Amino acid sequence: MAADLRIECRDAASAYPEVARLEPVVYTPEKMAHVAWHEVEWAHAERWVLGWLDERLVSCAGIHRRKIALDGTPRAIAGIGGVMTHPDHQCRGYSTQVLDEANAAIAADIAPAFSLIFVEPHNVDFYAHRGWGVFEGETIVEERGRRRPFPYMGVMLRDGTEVAPERGTIDMLGKPW
Ligand SMILES: CC(C)(COP(=O)(O)OP(=O)(O)OC[C@H]1O[C@@H](n2cnc3c(N)ncnc32)[C@H](O)[C@@H]1OP(=O)(O)O)[C@@H](O)C(=O)NCCC(=O)NCCS
Repeated sequence: MAADLRIECRDAASAYPEVARLEPVVYTPEKMAHVAWHEVEWAHAERWVLGWLDERLVSCAGIHRRKIALDGTPRAIAGIGGVMTHPDHQCRGYSTQVLDEANAAIAADIAPAFSLIFVEPHNVDFYAHRGWGVFEGETIVEERGRRRPFPYMGVMLRDGTEVAPERGTIDMLGKPW
């Protein structure tokens, strides 16, 4: 059985140095050399859910909030980004626990219309099994000061105070996460 994960929620300033140590272990330079999105400028999370084994960070997820436009109408949404588990500790349910905590924190503290995550094709099933649905519409992001469709990843949504849309245009009015 997997060891117990200690989960905590931290503000970005105190969490990010820890996350920055885990990131290159998950997204190794070899892996990054082959991804099309390696130069994307990502938005910074406002908070992080961290999963610890003793003093070792093994899993995390960042929480975002944003006013976006859905078909031109403003919506206050939340988001999750930076989901990762140390390769030596994957498939033990750690990311599931971290995501459960992130979803609970979002519902309690943000109560968004819906939540949004950017997902690579190979991870769609992972999120589909955890309550996220594929958004079939178009997503516009800000990239180096210009607004343009985001070509690198799909978007999945999770219901909040509203049923998440399946189609339409989401303008992120900012960077992706
Ligand atoms: C995707 C990732 C976060 C999952 O973390 P994890 O801690 O291993 O996840 P869990 O142990 O909670 O869940 C694993 C389960 O999901 C399944 N799973 C893992 N990756 C999957 C994928 N890409 N597609 C479908 N299922 C997947 C596993 O088979 C396992 O199934 P089980 O519950 O039946 O055993 C981890 O593989 C990772 O860090 N990947 C690299 C970074 C990344 O792609 N992050 C996602 C950014 S959106």
